[in-house]
Amino acid sequence: MSIYAVCTPGLERALAEELEELLGREVHIQPGGVEAEGDLVDAAGLCLWSRCAAKILFVLGEVHAASLQQLEQEVRKLDWSEILHPGQQVVVKVAGRGRIKHHDAVSKKVGFAIADSLRASAQPTPKAGKRGRGAKRGSAAPKRRFQARGPRRNHAPLTLQVRLDERVARLSLDAGGLLHKRGYRQSTAKAPIRENLAVCILRMAGWQPGVPLVDPMCGAGTFSIEAAMWAADVAPGLKPPPVTGLPGFPDDAWKTMLDEAKSAQSLASELPILTADRDKGACRATQENASRAGVHIAPVCKDISKAFETTLEGPGLVVLNPPYGVRVADNVKLAPLYHKIGGALRAQFPGWRVVMVCPDKALAGRVAKMEELVRFKNGGISVGVYVGQL
Ligand SMILES: C[S@@+](CC[C@H](N)C(=O)[O-])C[C@H]1O[C@@H](n2cnc3c(N)ncnc32)[C@H](O)[C@@H]1O
Repeated sequence: MSIYAVCTPGLERALAEELEELLGREVHIQPGGVEAEGDLVDAAGLCLWSRCAAKILFVLGEVHAASLQQLEQEVRKLDWSEILHPGQQVVVKVAGRGRIKHHDAVSKKVGFAIADSLRASAQPTPKAGKRGRGAKRGSAAPKRRFQARGPRRNHAPLTLQVRLDERVARLSLDAGGLLHKRGYRQSTAKAPIRENLAVCILRMAGWQPGVPLVDPMCGAGTFSIEAAMWAADVAPGLKPPPVTGLPGFPDDAWKTMLDEAKSAQSLASELPILTADRDKGACRATQENASRAGVHIAPVCKDISKAFETTLEGPGLVVLNPPYGVRVADNVKLAPLYHKIGGALRAQFPGWRVVMVCPDKALAGRVAKMEELVRFKNGGISVGVYVGQL
């Protein structure tokens, strides 16, 4: 049995490092994710504890898929009553490229094959597949929601991912949905970075709990809050993931994990994290988000050039994603701001490491002499993660 943890392409190394720590076993980097051996309980544990993963998939297996007919037959052969409850809603999502070109047809056939198989074991009647919420006609990744009629129990809907690759389809259950949605970031500010990306960036820059951290343009507070949660062992995914409701999931295993996670929290200690933003709304959002996340962050509401009266014993890490533009011309206009950031940080935190997300190497170079660690897509824009020394 295996688990596939999904991440933004480019950030696999950070995720692999985290998964190795959490699972205590070897993991394998793939493009856009990390694979490891593991069962349903491991998958739920990763939904609870992984700060870097975008999703955790529980891999059911690979089946032949040279044609739509072959795929359908192969799916029918599986004993779905061992995997799903009768009456359970399944959203079928299709991705990848294989011999079968029509994702929508795959979604429909697989959904009906599962519904039929569940009906055969529980004698319910299949209901015609309905379009899944959010699915667009003809979209690249269609979804369908299927429900085999049977005793209607309160099982969370599950997403089955079908990934096509030449003559093979890999079937996986989405164990916990979108893991970056921790639930605390209800107060927003401009252009927040996704929670799991923020942790990947901190990891790539070599940050770990105990290292002093400065987040001088905090926006909605993502870097500071994620660092504080990590330092205080606050588990990021406390909501029960759908996988815990499956027939094969051991009774009480989630409760035990959750109890352990709650008792692992060590919120009392003072954390070496300084946070600021010149925008009052951003500071308020950070404070509100932090309190929802269960950590204490008190942002200073000042411009970066005069933000911190107190400092921390360093050297530590400064992390920031300053405003950036989509076009080269936008970034040229931003050059003076980046120049100012460099000057302000060198004055306040000499000798510290700095990690920054920004689309343009020349712009990053205005802050310090930078090395580009990796590039990835953030909100559709190609950005680099730059590290340097102040
Ligand atoms: C892209 S946002 C940061 C997003 C943040 N990392 C998050 O995840 O929410 C950039 C932030 O820089 C702040 N900012 C811009 N110029 C600033 C300056 N001169 N001093 C301090 N903060 C500044 C903005 O108010 C904005 O909140």
